Amino acid sequence: MPIALITGGSAGLGHAFAHQLASDGYDLVLVARNADRLRGVAEGLRIQYGVAVEVITADLARPASRAGVERRIARRGEGAVDLLINNAGCEVYKEFGAATPEELQAEVDLNISAVMQLTRAALPAMIDRANGAVINVASFAGYLPARGSAYGASKAWVLAFTDTVAASLVGTDVRAIALCAGRLRRPGAGRQRGPLWLDAEDVVAQCLSDLRRGRVMCTPGWLYRGLVGVLESPRRTLRLLARVAGRSRSQNQAIRPSAARPRIRRERNQD
Ligand SMILES: NC(=O)c1ccc[n+]([C@@H]2O[C@H](COP(=O)([O-])OP(=O)(O)OC[C@H]3O[C@@H](n4cnc5c(N)ncnc54)[C@H](OP(=O)(O)O)[C@@H]3O)[C@@H](O)[C@H]2O)c1
Repeated sequence: MPIALITGGSAGLGHAFAHQLASDGYDLVLVARNADRLRGVAEGLRIQYGVAVEVITADLARPASRAGVERRIARRGEGAVDLLINNAGCEVYKEFGAATPEELQAEVDLNISAVMQLTRAALPAMIDRANGAVINVASFAGYLPARGSAYGASKAWVLAFTDTVAASLVGTDVRAIALCAGRLRRPGAGRQRGPLWLDAEDVVAQCLSDLRRGRVMCTPGWLYRGLVGVLESPRRTLRLLARVAGRSRSQNQAIRPSAARPRIRRERNQD
């Protein structure tokens, strides 16, 4: 069975990914801080879908705690991770000047550093066995020049970072996609109607479908898709130009542990 590792797989969007992938036959590795909640979610998934579910209790904002997750992701052979979902993220709901330096740093450590380090841990093994994918959960907030903490900027970074990773994966059988999520409905959270609100299950289904189609970005919901479509239009052209220019450079050497492996077909990542 393929294996998916989901950060923040015990709640919200990560939990929805866990259900969808388990029902698709994936074994799971779930990462979060709260061990009791993780164990409860894992047991529920095992019973409902009959899949194997491993749990790792870790605070991904802390390098020492993250190291064990990186080692698990980088595993080769039996137990190798086929799909990494960098989903865990947090937002400090304060004005930038009102948030403490520690709060802002923790936001950046989880939303940026963890995404970069876990992606880096995953790619060499995936590239070597010519199979694998990374989903990085960004947000529509990454496009908004709005007030607040470092959240919007961190999600803009996730979008740009995924573009870089996807471009460097051209010519391999490994994919990367950024999920530009809009506002997610929360069960029991009152009035959440209108096109701004999305169901986590629909967002997950759209993302997995776009990943299968080789897209480098997924924006669920017609309203968000329309807005992002306009904002992304020049970027799509730049992406294409970067791909063409990148063909003359052997960028994959930088993340490729074994330069001896023959080059494999170029295609996919059509966005
Ligand atoms: N909710 C939205 O409307 C929305 C919109 C756009 C994008 N997003 C993005 O979607 C992703 C998921 O958001 P969500 O709202 O579904 O989250 P959520 O319901 O708050 O769940 C967060 C998950 O991440 C885990 N987590 C949080 N901090 C962690 C840390 N430091 N180390 C390890 N695990 C941690 C949590 O478990 P523990 O607390 O046990 O660690 C939980 O499993 C985030 O990247 C978010 O930015 C959300």
